[in-house]
Amino acid sequence: MALRLGDTAPNFTAESSLGTLNLYDFLGTSWGILFSHPADFTPVCTTELGKTAKLIQEFAARNTKVLALSVDGVASHQEWIKDINETQNTTVNFPIIADENKEIAYLYDMIHPNASATLTVRSLFIIAPDKTVKLIITYPASTGRNFDEVLRVLDSLQLTADYQVATPADWKQGEDVVVIPAIKTIDIPAKFPKGFTEVKPYLRLTPQPNI
Ligand code: BEZ
Repeated sequence: MALRLGDTAPNFTAESSLGTLNLYDFLGTSWGILFSHPADFTPVCTTELGKTAKLIQEFAARNTKVLALSVDGVASHQEWIKDINETQNTTVNFPIIADENKEIAYLYDMIHPNASATLTVRSLFIIAPDKTVKLIITYPASTGRNFDEVLRVLDSLQLTADYQVATPADWKQGEDVVVIPAIKTIDIPAKFPKGFTEVKPYLRLTPQPNI
């Protein structure tokens, strides 16, 4: 059955461009982003992995480790990484998993047979430190992902985990956040000393608590 939000991310051990890797050991107590791409030496994927490499400090600042996956082998990944580094002017220093027998692709439901019988779609999973799946997004092969959005969701998820707030539509860093419905209005001042605005009894806004 397909993975759903709140499920435990299945563990695996696999070969990667950085050697043999166990997912849980690799992540440790960090947040994780596992994302698949259809194949090595493809144009959109080349730009995605270059972009991810450029953002690696942003992910690190969010205590987040990234790992990519495709159904090609390690030798292919190594050659392709040279191209990515050259064409995207970066250094890929995160692992790309070699899932040649598609075990992980099936485990994470990354192959959508009506899109392609053999290639992974652009699946992306955010995994919390407790190993639960917090986000699943799926793009078609022809559309490169928006990694600013991935960072934005990561910020939102971490705010929810740390402060019991949610984030409204199109929220960006620094903007007001929403107090989750589980918190009674009478309890808000103690939890959110920066103050709050009650737009409706069910819509309470407060300044972003961690800035
Ligand atoms: C790409 O990564 O560029 C790509 C892969 C498969 C189909 C279309 C584009």
